[in-house]
Amino acid sequence: MADVTAPRHAMAASAIAALAPRSDFPILARQVNGKPLVFLDSAASSQKPTAVLEAMNQFATTSYANIHRGAYALSEEATRAYERARKSVAKFINARSAREVIFTRNATESINLVARTWAEANLKPGDVILATEMEHHSNIVPWQLAAARVGATVAYVPVTDSGELDMAAYERLLEQRQPRLVAITQMSNVLGTLPPVGEIVAKAHAAGALALVDGAQSVPHLPVDVRALDCDFLAFSGHKMLGPSGIGVLWARAEILEAMPPFLGGGDMIREVTLEGSTWNDLPWKFEAGTPAIIEAIGLGAAVAYLTALGMERVHAHERALTAYAMERLAAIPDLTLYGPPADRRGGVVSFTLGDIHAHDLATLLDGEGVAVRAGHHCAQPLMERYRIPATARASFYVYTTSAEIDALAEALERARAVFAL
Ligand SMILES: Cc1ncc(COP(=O)(O)O)c(C=O)c1O
Repeated sequence: MADVTAPRHAMAASAIAALAPRSDFPILARQVNGKPLVFLDSAASSQKPTAVLEAMNQFATTSYANIHRGAYALSEEATRAYERARKSVAKFINARSAREVIFTRNATESINLVARTWAEANLKPGDVILATEMEHHSNIVPWQLAAARVGATVAYVPVTDSGELDMAAYERLLEQRQPRLVAITQMSNVLGTLPPVGEIVAKAHAAGALALVDGAQSVPHLPVDVRALDCDFLAFSGHKMLGPSGIGVLWARAEILEAMPPFLGGGDMIREVTLEGSTWNDLPWKFEAGTPAIIEAIGLGAAVAYLTALGMERVHAHERALTAYAMERLAAIPDLTLYGPPADRRGGVVSFTLGDIHAHDLATLLDGEGVAVRAGHHCAQPLMERYRIPATARASFYVYTTSAEIDALAEALERARAVFAL
């Protein structure tokens, strides 16, 4: 099998090695369609290191029981492990307290939680929620649903031709529409754009709005500090940050969570239930109805430990270097169009089209070469509409990605040009 960590191209004289040992990710050693796997779809979901899989296996094998209920040693042990994972997540994002960390299924559920509870309790007819044209559907549709329920409207900050947020328009919209909530991604999953979220939050607050940050693409890839950002809500998913699927996080300020009505009703989220009514548990359990994703929480805790050991500054720097390399390499391919801002202003995501080849056909062809990229609208149809394109192909990078894999992509794209007679 070819060694995808070895340089294959002249430009790779200063080849970028993986930041994390590739042997930590056994799946990367497999072949796909008879070729070494070149996995360039981490923005959709990341691969999992053995440390995460082993932590879950070890917990399930030795310490598993339902949590918060049993007055027996095993249940107490499981509860401690689950709550330890919550503390690790709180520390990872510099939350003031683990009480502010709610475990959900994913970023989508975290945003829906806010849209169902905070929005319904606080918004009235005529109110405005301000999102942006570059949001993932997860940060658009819940607001449209909430707006329909309460008679509010959703307005959108436009995106410039180069894929950045139009900050002048943002300031105008704040002034003219007086939104109650600004919902903004910290990194576009299509363009890689890193909007100036600190400034956006500060301006939202100055205009009297709360700020929700969609951290689905940022928390896995850059240092995120909720106190420094000063946001009110942060949503992200475990499966994009080396953890398992089925677990996500909503972080919010304790005082906001205290004032919010519960989301789902059921076991664990109550203090007392009578036939006439119920009272709610303390934070964070008030928002965790039913048996949670216990094993997955342990996995997320292990993923956070793994990322912390690598160092989030280094993760970000690694992806910046790969992105700069990828953009230079892909820009040299005739007929290839890159979307989004320059490499120094984006995260590790590169969207492109090649001539008039449909992105799906391109991705299928690349798959034949073992190269896994995403193709489609990336759950961002309004952004596709903005650029008047039906779809893009997208390569995305993580701690295990090497520049040799980007070479493999570029070489496969060159062959695709020949196949499609461009
Ligand atoms: C920017 C952004 N927000 C939200 C989501 C939703 O994440 P999940 O499907 O894990 O809920 C994604 C997933 O791709 C994303 O990229």
